[in-house]
Order: sequence, then C-alpha cells, then structure tokens
Amino acid sequence: MHRILIDTDPGVDDALAILLAMKSPELQVEAITTVSGNVHVEQATQNLLTILSLLELTEYPIVAKGEAQPLVKPLVMAEHVHGEDGLGNISKLRNPDGSPRYPLANCEISTISGVDLILETVDRFPDELVVVALGPLTNISRAIQKDAECMQRLRSIVLMGGVFSEYGNVTTTAEFNVFVDPHAAHEVFNSGMPVHIAPLDVTHQVRLTSERLDAEIEGRSDKISCFLKESTQPCMEFYREHVGFYGLHIHDALPIGMLTHPGFFESVEAYVQVETEGNLTSGMTVADLRRDRHNSVPNASVCIKVDADAFLDHFFERVLS
Ligand code: RIB
Ligand code: CA
Repeated sequence: MHRILIDTDPGVDDALAILLAMKSPELQVEAITTVSGNVHVEQATQNLLTILSLLELTEYPIVAKGEAQPLVKPLVMAEHVHGEDGLGNISKLRNPDGSPRYPLANCEISTISGVDLILETVDRFPDELVVVALGPLTNISRAIQKDAECMQRLRSIVLMGGVFSEYGNVTTTAEFNVFVDPHAAHEVFNSGMPVHIAPLDVTHQVRLTSERLDAEIEGRSDKISCFLKESTQPCMEFYREHVGFYGLHIHDALPIGMLTHPGFFESVEAYVQVETEGNLTSGMTVADLRRDRHNSVPNASVCIKVDADAFLDHFFERVLS
C-alpha cells in the first residue's frame, strides 16, 4: 500500500486520475493540494470538490489550496483545452429543478496552505509518503524552499510532465506542466529526492477515444459515467480539431498506474535538466534516454513505455467499478 499526497490542477485528465486513485485499494490518499495550471488555483480547488462529490465518500482526504502563481514566469493556463471552468464546463449544467448537476462535496478546505499541508503530511509519514504531482511543480518547489530538510524525508515524487523524444504540447519543445513553471521543475529535479517522470512520450501512447468511452458507459446512468461523458466532451472536440483524433490523452492517470501497476510500464534512469530561460525552449526537458549513456549521475527515472491496452482496460474497470 502506498500513502500518497496528490498535487493537482484539475483539469479534465486530473479528474480522471483522482477518480482512479480514490478507487485504487493499493493507495491511501492522505491529502490533496491544488495549484494553478490548467485553471487558476481558486477554480482548481472548486473543481476538486466537484470531483470528490462524485465519490460519495463518508470521509475525505485533507484538502488545501496551493500556489496561485509560478515561481518566476507569468501564469499560463489551458482553458481552451479543459473548458472555461477546467472541467469541460460541467459547472454550468443544471438539473430540471435548477440545482447544479455536479454539486461540490461538503468537504472542508484546510485553513493551512497547500505548501504547509505538503510539509505536514511528509512530517506525519516520514520516508513513507509519495507525492503524485499532476500539475506545475510550484507547490513542491515552494515546500523544498521552505523546509528542504523535511522534504528529504519524502519517499519519492511521481510526476506527469516533460517531453523528450517528441514535440511539446504547449510549444514545439515544452510540455504544459513544466512550461508553466520551469523554475519549479528545475528545483524538483535537482532536489536529490527520488523522481519518477511520466512524460508525453509515454502518456501519448494511451488514447481514450470517444468511441471507447461510449462503449464503456453504454446503458449506464450513474454519476461517474455521466461525468466521464460530459466533462470530457469539450476536450475531445479540441483534440478532434487540433490533435487529430476524437478523444483525449489521459496524461495524469499514468502516474497513478505507475504506482499501483508498475508491470504495465517501462522506465529508464536518466539525468534530466530543464531549460528555464530560452526564448524558444523555455520549459524544455533535456536528457539522453539511451540506456547506459550516462555522462552524468541520473537524477530521475523516466517512463518511456506502457501497455496501453492493459492500462486502459484497468482504468475503466476501476473508475466504473
Ligand atoms: O501536459 C499535460 C499536463 O498538463 C496534464 O497534467 C494536464 O492536466 C495539464 O496539467
Ligand atoms: Ca494536470
């Protein structure tokens, strides 16, 4: 069993990852912190409460709001992909009686900051806690800045971010999470803590198509099935227009699978660096992924391959269970 803290910028694919994590008996989700990325952290925090409401929980992970602005760069968001509200605009949907179709969970938002909740949770579970980072790494790097010694007690960080042997999804050279806060990513990769990376190179191998989703939820009218359909629709339209298939990449679900089902994945050790200043290359992650070609000591494990069919079957089996 892994004790984890999820740091997230929900975000449609973040929502899928959180549902998968909360329905994985291999994981104990102790806390969830939010960060600005796909949408502003205020909206991301509301979205988290919407996602948690789908699970009809009797007790909730501790939730805290994190950083609103990247360390240095101005905030860049992705409403054009995830919808104005970051969840496919489902917050606008109403029941016949006018009530929200997707209400917020009655879960308290902690009075402490996301950064302090990260430090407190590491302190509660020294050498055991795993941070799963699904957005820009601003909160994690602020926690390192605030108390590096405490963060050394983190067991590991598993993050979705970066791209190595493909084009970026924000610029030609950069993946969104690292692009938004390259200085934070630089701090995390140089922190000395065990880092496991799920870059676009592996997340692009898993395509959740509209056709597959419809087949999986056919005849179902439960809340999660409706959420899967309605929250992903605008994103799938974006993909049909700009990415070339009618569906979406479930980027953030992969780090969850890397923890619960490592057998689906293949990784290589590498020395990963981040460009923080380049005009054309800001947010670019740079590493030589060829095996045993280490001109420097590796600082991360980079996931390069997934059994996409097995992982997608697993995803639906768990999320629709
Ligand atoms: O590049 C994909 C990543 O950026 C995902 O985490 C997605 O949610 C966005 O945050
Ligand atoms: Ca995300």
